[in-house]
Amino acid sequence: MSLHIPVLSAQVTAHLLRSPIPIFADVTFGHGMHSKLILPHAQKLYASDTDPRVSTRIPQNPKIHYQHARFSAVKFPEKIGGAIMDLGIASDMVDEAGRGFSYNKDAELDMRFDDSKESKQITAKEICNTWTEDQLTYIIHHVS
Ligand SMILES: C[S@@+](CC[C@H](N)C(=O)[O-])C[C@H]1O[C@@H](n2cnc3c(N)ncnc32)[C@H](O)[C@@H]1O
Repeated sequence: MSLHIPVLSAQVTAHLLRSPIPIFADVTFGHGMHSKLILPHAQKLYASDTDPRVSTRIPQNPKIHYQHARFSAVKFPEKIGGAIMDLGIASDMVDEAGRGFSYNKDAELDMRFDDSKESKQITAKEICNTWTEDQLTYIIHHVS
């Protein structure tokens, strides 16, 4: 499995750290490469991700407050200095055939970021096979 290395992480993080409030959020934690750069400069880091696997990767650090959540549902109990959203997929999601993101492995389409039992997300397979042409046109033009 390849290691996910985000591009421009140093530049993005340096921009975030200009804030005078040393409380930050990484709402797409993934493998934590951005958080790793933010943490030494932060008093507190609110970390979150919608992928259930991420909660097993959170380092033991009293500065980190983690929640499994979509970024649209994350709530902060105090004012934060800034937040990072590194949108997209991580390399391991493509490598693991069962996630249904792969372009070179034979597996069913899935593409849910949250594929836990509790997840209400629907698979790409279901969308492609059951949605109408109008609905597909709508998401291609208005949601992507
Ligand atoms: C490109 S990866 C982030 C990589 C991360 N910055 C790192 O350093 O490893 C994108 C992450 O966003 C997460 N994600 C995708 N959609 C999300 C959403 N709606 N809410 C929260 N996280 C989401 C994915 O699960 C994935 O972990």
